[in-house]
Amino acid sequence: MTEKRIVLGVSGASGMEYALALARHLAAVPGLSVHGIISAGARQVLEHECVRYGAELETYFQYVYAVDNVAAPPASGSWHHDGMVICPCSMASLAAIAQGVGTHLLHRAADVCLKERRPLVLVVRETPLSAVHLRNMLRAHQAGAIIMPACPGFYHQPRTLDDIVRHFAGRVMEQLGLPHTLYARWGETESA
Ligand SMILES: Cc1cc2nc3c(=O)[nH]c(=O)nc-3n(C[C@H](O)[C@H](O)[C@H](O)COP(=O)(O)O)c2cc1C
Repeated sequence: MTEKRIVLGVSGASGMEYALALARHLAAVPGLSVHGIISAGARQVLEHECVRYGAELETYFQYVYAVDNVAAPPASGSWHHDGMVICPCSMASLAAIAQGVGTHLLHRAADVCLKERRPLVLVVRETPLSAVHLRNMLRAHQAGAIIMPACPGFYHQPRTLDDIVRHFAGRVMEQLGLPHTLYARWGETESA
């Protein structure tokens, strides 16, 4: 396999700006194909946060799989990819993943990542967090997921929303071992 593949799942939490920025920057990586899965909940949140995003988001995916299609490639461990990120990740999706409930493609694909020991980044988003949410995060972490709450940093002195989401997209890409120039690393001066 020469081409790298990343699965980008989008679930129904707030923060579609993060998904959009991440999809855009993943799509710009040479030799990387982005495989999208958008839950029904995500489509609902997309409509609330900004209708335009739904259509734009899909333009960054080389492949989009229907969330109810559990026969799609990401549902099988024999289909190789280089990692999956769910951004944003709702507490409902977190719970399903933490409990191994793979009844639709988004959750099944995440479950496959855990069993195949492939990188799985969950950009969880809710506030405040209940004991149930915290326990599910610990469960998912212990099963191998990387829990990356949608908590932007401010030490890079962002001035715009784009500065914030771009920096966060870079942090996620770093976890997936992907090249990016989205921010200058601590101690380095140049930035894209
Ligand atoms: C506008 C809107 C914003 C939401 N934001 C969140 C959120 O930030 N975190 C969360 O866990 N659920 C949030 N929800 C609720 C989820 O969308 C809901 O639990 C849904 O069933 C999640 O399903 P999914 O994970 O399959 O997408 C939100 C719902 C709506 C309509």
